[in-house]
Order: sequence, then structure tokens, then C-alpha cells
Amino acid sequence: MSHPSTIKKCIFPAAGYGTRFLPATKAMPKEMLPVVDKPLIQYGVEEAMAAGMTDIGIITGRGKRAVADHFDISYELEHQISGTPKEDLLKDIRRVIDECTFSYTRQIEMLGLGHAILTAQTLVGEQPFGVILADDLCIDDNDGVMSQLLRIYVKYRCSVVAIEEVDPNEVDKYGVIDGKEIEAGVFKVDGMVEKPAVDDAPSHLAIIGRYILTPEIFDILRRTPPGKNGELQITDALQVQARENMVLACRFDGRRFDCGSVDGFVEATNFFYDRRRAAAGEVRP
Ligand code: UTP
Repeated sequence: MSHPSTIKKCIFPAAGYGTRFLPATKAMPKEMLPVVDKPLIQYGVEEAMAAGMTDIGIITGRGKRAVADHFDISYELEHQISGTPKEDLLKDIRRVIDECTFSYTRQIEMLGLGHAILTAQTLVGEQPFGVILADDLCIDDNDGVMSQLLRIYVKYRCSVVAIEEVDPNEVDKYGVIDGKEIEAGVFKVDGMVEKPAVDDAPSHLAIIGRYILTPEIFDILRRTPPGKNGELQITDALQVQARENMVLACRFDGRRFDCGSVDGFVEATNFFYDRRRAAAGEVRP
């Protein structure tokens, strides 16, 4: 489903070290890991496009070239396969390149996700924007998660985060919200805790890697001190924004795979491979 283009900009922080996926991520960002035959970041960009966000900003650290080259024409390769059945394999990425523009900025020191988002201010300016962490691979057959967040943004005009009910023993891996449900699946955030101990978690509603942020977040980030693990945490800044203004959390429809972990990545690979076989009328042996 397409949307009126209320928000054009979508930011992809891709500067993390990806230590859970070493050695694969030693020389390339984990966002380039392929699930079946498509890099994680392309799934993310396609989700942004489905929400009408075609102005893509990527925050890179090392391994910038692999991402930038992916979203560029490869003349030799395209010439080589031109007129053969293999041309079809580039159909999706060509559409992405045709419909989106890409800008890049570098996060010089990896000081946390909040810091990566602050680094993107030069690409964003004074407008609301989407944020996608491409290692959280989300799928919904009707409407992508970013489109679902956008609908809530259009109604309430404040920052919106995507949440998922997680296993109580897993809350210490996430930012967790405390809030009141104001309409089905939409919570007004009263508080947020980054990676709480299992017994201290205010709920089991965990923030996953999809956000729509209003530009006031930049000033808040600038006055936020480093938090958990000495990193500038976006949850700490959102907590302030929730207090000073309003932040909503949306329990999205669909499924998420944590592709930053080996287990989640393998699960996603199996899921997408089975879907593809089923679409081709084949069944996995
Ligand atoms: P993660 O918490 O998954 O960290 O970052 P990571 O370094 O990528 O991975 P592990 O835990 O070492 O395996 C969440 C998101 O924030 C980005 C990452 O690229 C990822 O998309 N990030 C994190 C930055 O861009 N900069 C940072 O300084 C930290």
C-alpha cells in the first residue's frame, strides 16, 4: 500500500561493529549480509520505499564501499548479462536505484545508536524522518512496519517507535517501554529503560529497529549524557521527549527476525527460502 509522501527521509544507521557476526563482519557491515540473495539493507530500503520514503541516508563506519556500490549501477556486470535471463535478477535493485536517492555520512567514533542518529542531522535537517535498523528484518504481507508507523505519525504528529512483545527472559536485550494503550496496539510512552534486568522491566514490550522521529530529538540527543555501556542511547533521548512532549509506541502487525544474531539470521534465511520455494510451487524436501 502506498502513502501520501508525508515523510521522505529515512535513515539507516549502519556503523556498528556487528561483533555478534564476526568474522563475517570484519571487513563489511552486517547490513550487507544476504538473506537468501538480497542484502539486509535492501529489504530495509524496500520497506522505506513502500512507506513513500525515497530519500535514503546511510550512516556508515567502515565498509562504506560495499553499501554505496550496492546502490549504484554496475556497468560491466549489467552489460555482461544484458539480454540474458539473469537480467531479471537485478530487477528489484534497479527499481530501488531508480526511485530513491542515497546520501552517506560517516560516524567517526562508534559512540552508540543515539550518536549515529545525531550524526545524521546533517542529512536530515529540520523535518521528521524514519529510522530503520536493517539488521531487524521485518515482514508483513499487507503493510510494512514503517508504513504502519507512518499512519500513526500522520494521526498524532509525534515520535513513534515500533514495539514487540518479547519473551520475559529476553527483555535485557532491548529498550523496554512503560505505557498506556490509547488505541488498539498504540501506547503512550510514560517511560523507557534500556536493557533492564528481567525483574526490573516495566513491561515485556521491547523497542525494535523502526522509528519515526521528530527533529526535536537532535537537541535532546545533544544534551543526553552517555547511558548504558557508555553509549549515547536513543532510548534515553526518547524518554526525555516522552516527558517533554509525547512519544507513542506501536505494536506492529507482522514478524521480525533479529538478523544481528546468528540464530535470527538462520531463521530468516529459512523463512524466506521456504516462501520462495512455495511461491515457485516447490516444497522443501
Ligand atoms: P547493535 O546494538 O546491534 O550493535 O546496533 P552492533 O555493533 O551493530 O552489533 P553487535 O551487538 O556488536 O553484534 C544497533 C544498530 O545501531 C547501529 C548498528 O549498525 C545497528 O544497525 N549503530 C550502533 C551505529 O550505527 N553506530 C553505533 O555507534 C552503534
